[in-house]
Formats: sequence, structure tokens, C-alpha cells
Amino acid sequence: MMPDGSQLHVATRSATHGPGSQSGTPARRRALVTDAREVLAHQEAPGGRLESMNFAFGSDDVFAIADLPDNKTAAAVALTVSGSRHHRVSACVGRPELPGGAVARMEGVQHGASAGCDAGPATRADAPAGGRATFPAMRAYGFTAVGGPENETLLDLAPPVAGPGELLVRVRAAGVNPGDWKLRAGGYGAVPLPAVLGREVAGTVEAVGDGVHGFAVGDEVFGGTPGMVGGWAELARVLAPFAAHRPESVAPVDAAALPVAAGTALDGLDGLALEPGATLLVNGAGGGVGVAAVQLAVARGLTVVGTASPAKHDLLASLGAVPVAYGAGVVGRIRAAAPGGIDAAFDMVGGPALRTLAALVPDRTRLVSIADHALVAELGGHAVERDRSTAVLAWLAALVADGVLDPLVTDVRPLEEAGAALAAVEAGHARGKVAISVG
Ligand SMILES: NC(=O)c1ccc[n+]([C@@H]2O[C@H](COP(=O)([O-])OP(=O)(O)OC[C@H]3O[C@@H](n4cnc5c(N)ncnc54)[C@H](OP(=O)(O)O)[C@@H]3O)[C@@H](O)[C@H]2O)c1
Repeated sequence: MMPDGSQLHVATRSATHGPGSQSGTPARRRALVTDAREVLAHQEAPGGRLESMNFAFGSDDVFAIADLPDNKTAAAVALTVSGSRHHRVSACVGRPELPGGAVARMEGVQHGASAGCDAGPATRADAPAGGRATFPAMRAYGFTAVGGPENETLLDLAPPVAGPGELLVRVRAAGVNPGDWKLRAGGYGAVPLPAVLGREVAGTVEAVGDGVHGFAVGDEVFGGTPGMVGGWAELARVLAPFAAHRPESVAPVDAAALPVAAGTALDGLDGLALEPGATLLVNGAGGGVGVAAVQLAVARGLTVVGTASPAKHDLLASLGAVPVAYGAGVVGRIRAAAPGGIDAAFDMVGGPALRTLAALVPDRTRLVSIADHALVAELGGHAVERDRSTAVLAWLAALVADGVLDPLVTDVRPLEEAGAALAAVEAGHARGKVAISVG
């Protein structure tokens, strides 16, 4: 198996081309990927024994690198000429010790200098016309450079491989979160590019990594992805310790919406450990975490006051909260809604809104924020400690199955419209959860 580092290097290099210079439409790129894959399988791995592949897109070609059995690697380039389909593919077989210089050699291959692949005989062959693809390219949605939404694109990628402690899941649905656009915008530092967005999914287990217990191929599951990336794709890696079985009565889009938002809501409430009858202020109650926090708090016997824009007040009231409009005069409105005072506040907004509302919480150890860790600490409160475990997810799914919790997925888009789904969340006024259906 080729070391990950070399594969990542290849994938990263593709990003330097930028979205505008990549080889044509998604359908055209898929055709190129299929061509490269067919030739590698045909020449180097009879019987379809390719282990995994990565692709880099040039201006008019696709460069493919594959893991082969027996610790070998192979590379191929599918070319287009004057808008027609590929003409030929160069391929070479490497040895296990190749990866140190493999990328440079394979760049040589990419530019037609197949003699640069010195670890094995370079071959050049016409690709089989109309042949069957052994491993169809996987569709995904992500970004090719850190920055704004203009860097987002549909991607054709090699299917990922489940690492130790991971599941490979055929994705049926994925959740959308503010963390997705923050990742794209560089808020969490550098990520290998191109990066596939998406940190929570539901789907069917296709493969089980080493050291995984309690999950088998064919199981319906939901959970979080490693590195909080990779979910908006036909196949995704999922962390087995942060995955659970999906009850049949819980739809995939609902299950996919639980790990981040409802999980955070549950952890926030557990940390506050309020007694029934206490009054909780939920700031930003109409979004993904907010609607879950309201429902879970009401189920615990708390009195809940929730801030939201007026268009969401009916929704909050239907969930059992007293809705209050945020903005100028909000402190007075909350005092009127909770004449006995506020015992604790759970903030989803941060900034000036958090600073204003902190004045309502006499015991600042009962002030938590998921949106502004620095400010909440300055105000004497704290961030929410996450428990990303199978037990938490199983508990949340049981609450959904029992009708106690509804993740309130109000907007479901196909993978092709993932950009619109993310834009809806990035606008900052989502109603409940947004999700993506895949397949
Ligand atoms: N630390 C963690 O583990 C963790 C986990 C999940 C989320 N987060 C963070 O927590 C925040 C909320 O996440 P989310 O998924 O709930 O986001 P979301 O679904 O986008 O919801 C945010 C909500 O805030 C409302 N809002 C906007 N400005 C407001 C204001 N000034 N006062 C009150 N409400 C306001 C919006 O709707 P209206 O304006 O229409 O009312 C919207 O419903 C994000 O910053 C996210 O990155 C952190």
C-alpha cells in the first residue's frame, strides 16, 4: 500500500490548478477518471485488484495514482485532445521503496515522460474503448482552495478506505453545519486539498477497518467523520467510536442531522446539570443546535426562553419555549418572559449578543457558549465539553425514535445542490437543520 503522504501530495497538487483550469465539466472529468481507472485495472491489476486510487486534474487531463496488491503503485494519465475523449494512457508500476521520489517521477509521467518512471517498464497503450469501469469514480462536494464559496466544487474522487477504528459508509444523507463553511474559510487552519466537506453522515456500512467491534458490513449507521471532513460524498469514512446503529424508524436525513447539533445540545445541557423547574435561556434557539437544546431542555422539565427572529416564534412555541425577539431591548423582553429570573444560559451566537445576555445570569458558571469560547471565558462562563461517543448517538437516536426529539430538518438538497445547502447555513439564519441526500 502506498503511504498516505504521497497520495496526499498528489491530491494537494491538483488544487494548485484552481477550479477554473480543471478538466471540463464533472461528467467529462468522470469520463477521464473512468478511462484512467480502466487502463490501470486492465494493465496492472487483471481481475480488478486495484486497492484504491487518487486523482489530480490538470487543464485537459486527469492524473491517476493507484495502490496495487503486493505493495506496488501505478500511475496513469488520461488525456483529452481538442475536446474529444481520451487518446492514450501512460502507466508505470512502482516498487514499495518508490514513494520517496514517486511524486516527482509521476509528475514526469503526467507530462508524458514515462521514462521517468524508472522502477519498472514504462508502457504505453491505447485505452480499451467502451470498457467497463471496475471502480466507478465517487462523487463528492468540497473545495479546492481555502476562501469563499467560489472555491467549492463537485469532485470526482477515488473512494476512501476505512482506516483502523473506522467504517467505510455508503452515504445516504449528510448534515450541514456552520463548521463546514468555517472550515472552507480557513477557520480551522490548513486542510489537505481538495477537501470534501461534511462532518456527519448516515448510511450503510460497506467495509470495517481494523480494530472495529460492534459493526458489520450492511449495518445502517450514522456518525461523525474523521477530521470533520469527507461526509458529502457517495462513500465516507466514519469514526466507529462516534457512530451508532440507526433505528429503522429514524430516517437517514434525521439520523445524519444528530451528531453535531443535537450532540452538542445534549452535552451543553448535561454540563449545566439543571434541576427540573429551573429557567434556561437559549440564545439562537431557531437553528440546528438551538431547536435540539429547546426540546431536550423541555423534556428535562426546564422552563425555556428562546431568542429567535420573529418568523421562528411559532416554531419555538410549538417546541415548548417562550420565544423572544433578539436585538435592541432584548434584556427587558427576557425579564418580562421570565419574571422569576434566568438560572442558566446556553448561547449559540456569541459576540455582543452574548455579552448583553450574560447580565441576566447571576451564577456565571451556568453560562455556556458554543460560538464564542474566548468571550464566554472572559465573562466567567465556559465552553461545552463534547462527548463524541457511540453511547451519546444511540441515546439521541432513541429519543428521536420515541418522539421526544426532532432534529427538525427543514431543507434537504441533493449532493449536486450542496453549495446551495451550505449557502443557506452560511447566511446565518437557518431554520432547524439543513441536510444533503446522497445517492
Ligand atoms: N463547539 C461545538 O461543538 C459546536 C457544535 C455545533 C455548533 N457550533 C457553533 O455554534 C453556532 C450555532 O450552530 P448552529 O448549528 O445552531 O447554527 P445555525 O443552524 O446556523 O443556527 C444559528 C441560529 O442563530 C440565529 N441567530 C442569528 N443571529 C442571532 C442573534 N443575534 N441572536 C439570536 N439568534 C441569532 C439564526 O436564526 P434567526 O436569526 O432567524 O433567529 C439561526 O437560527 C455556530 O457558530 C456553530 O459553528 C459549535
